Amino acid sequence: MVKKIALFNHKGGVSKTTTAFNVGWKLAEKGIRVILLDADPQCNLTGMVLGFKGYDEFQNLYKSSQRDIASGLAPAFESRPEPMKSVECLPVRENLFLLPGHIRLSEYDVTLGIAHELSSSLVALRNLPGSFSYLLNKTAETYRADYIITDLNPSLSSTNRNLLMTSDYFIVPTNPDYFSVMAIDSLARVLPDWCEWSVKAQQLPILKDASYPYPQGIPKFLGTVIQKFRPRGKDPAQAFQKWIKDIQDGITTKLIPALSEKKMLLPDSAYRSAGLDKDFTLATIPDFNSLIAISQDNQTPIYALTKEQLNQQGVVYKQTLESQKEFDRIFSEFADKIINLTTHAQSS
Ligand SMILES: Nc1ncnc2c1ncn2[C@@H]1O[C@H](COP(=O)(O)OP(=O)(O)O)[C@@H](O)[C@H]1O
Ligand SMILES: [Mg+2]
Repeated sequence: MVKKIALFNHKGGVSKTTTAFNVGWKLAEKGIRVILLDADPQCNLTGMVLGFKGYDEFQNLYKSSQRDIASGLAPAFESRPEPMKSVECLPVRENLFLLPGHIRLSEYDVTLGIAHELSSSLVALRNLPGSFSYLLNKTAETYRADYIITDLNPSLSSTNRNLLMTSDYFIVPTNPDYFSVMAIDSLARVLPDWCEWSVKAQQLPILKDASYPYPQGIPKFLGTVIQKFRPRGKDPAQAFQKWIKDIQDGITTKLIPALSEKKMLLPDSAYRSAGLDKDFTLATIPDFNSLIAISQDNQTPIYALTKEQLNQQGVVYKQTLESQKEFDRIFSEFADKIINLTTHAQSS
């Protein structure tokens, strides 16, 4: 069975999209088959992976094919007689595929919200709450995917609620700043509410008997990522250390107790054996600095850029090689933790 991992924080700009791409690529490098799902109607992940610069390129993509999340869901959301079938993904590199986003997903979000509230009474809407999960399972089967990594949009939308609650696991990306500390507080309130809703939905006969049944299960928290700080030597500069500590405090004192109450955590032993500390940090990732531009121009993570792509010489190139080595280590350890946590959970 495919393992679905959602990257979620309702705050924007915390590196959700960048992390999905970078860690997805690293898992693929390790021989694991990964589908990247762009579930943000702004389609940043699609643009990043395909190197799109403007509107025309998106228009061409949608004109030439039905290879996107909204087209896949259309039979359910537009009450078409045909059943939903696996979406044709775009190959990114060996073992890595993209299921592109579409702006139409935000139109479906409104309908999905109504279905979440009323599907127990309105038979016509009963197929919608389970439709995302059904479509993703079908697509994963076609591609023999081990993981689907879902990049969500920065909001408390119905799409986010659905995709997060029907995932097997989730990761919370953050930046070391005031707003991320606030966001952790808020997630400690929102996620238990969503979980309660989902558990109730799982018990509704009307959703169990739907053509696309609402799936059973509770998503488990894998940990947090803290990203985009300025280092001083090997450690974050002091100004960032304060925010990192505040985020980790928020995780341990607020988020973890809230998730624990709703059974949204793995067994303690799983985190320990994956090498996570008590603060549940999967990775701390410094600012990419000038390398981010080269990475985006080449649609390649920094650690995987070739000498030709970098086009640098002398001391500059030597420094870049050092940075690449460090980012490679960080993302490799991050990917290993994901593998470890998700494998342990399956056997426990
Ligand atoms: N480690 C990093 N170093 C430098 N810039 C980064 C880093 N991670 C993300 N960014 C940049 O920060 C911005 C927001 O990141 P993004 O992944 O789009 O966040 P989100 O998906 O959470 O909104 C983007 O411009 C991205 O290129
Ligand atoms: Mg994004």
